[in-house]
Amino acid sequence: MQLEFSVRGAELSDLHKVMALYRAVAARSGGIARQADEVTEAYVRNFIERCLEAGIILAIEDPSNPGTLIAEVHTCSPGIRVFSHLFSDLTIAVHPDYQGKGIGTLLFGTLLQEIKSKHPEIQRVELIAKESNQKAIRFYRKFGFRAEGRLEKRISGKTGELEADIPMAWIRQE
Ligand SMILES: CC(C)(COP(=O)(O)OP(=O)(O)OC[C@H]1O[C@@H](n2cnc3c(N)ncnc32)[C@H](O)[C@@H]1OP(=O)(O)O)[C@@H](O)C(=O)NCCC(=O)NCCS
Repeated sequence: MQLEFSVRGAELSDLHKVMALYRAVAARSGGIARQADEVTEAYVRNFIERCLEAGIILAIEDPSNPGTLIAEVHTCSPGIRVFSHLFSDLTIAVHPDYQGKGIGTLLFGTLLQEIKSKHPEIQRVELIAKESNQKAIRFYRKFGFRAEGRLEKRISGKTGELEADIPMAWIRQE
């Protein structure tokens, strides 16, 4: 029997499940800015609360192991009026054992669909990916995100060398 993945809204009660997912991604595949020991309860609580209040936070559970999160995405408003038309601070994380199976595509597609249909005020969604994370950059391009420049020597790579960050944005087309 083929198990189906389904997307649901995340809640504050998912705090420790999101932490476990982010720590696995940080420790094994990388791609998120933080290292595993920097994925603190305070950091995760902060983005869950902000995105529940003024943004979107979605997750996918492992259908063969209900209660375990295998993917999460969030984005939220910067919180001041001049930026009320944009979502920022976007991060997506798929558990390393589940990457390359279409789960990120399902989750990110659902996020953009929600923005298009339930948040007509949002004209722009922005994120930053490090230049060496070409998988993520290709992934975002598939959804219509475009690079908006190159932030030279902004982030340190695996061996401490400095590399560029790439700011990207999706702009609503009327
Ligand atoms: C980047 C990330 C979110 C993508 O999620 P994913 O679930 O691995 O992505 P998908 O499987 O949906 O798609 C990725 C690729 O797999 C391919 N793919 C899709 N369905 C597939 C399937 N059933 N079998 C094999 N490959 C598949 C896609 O065509 C896509 O190819 P591309 O690399 O040419 O774009 C995920 O790899 C991740 O969490 N990485 C670590 C954290 C990270 O980098 N986050 C972004 C920070 S900026």
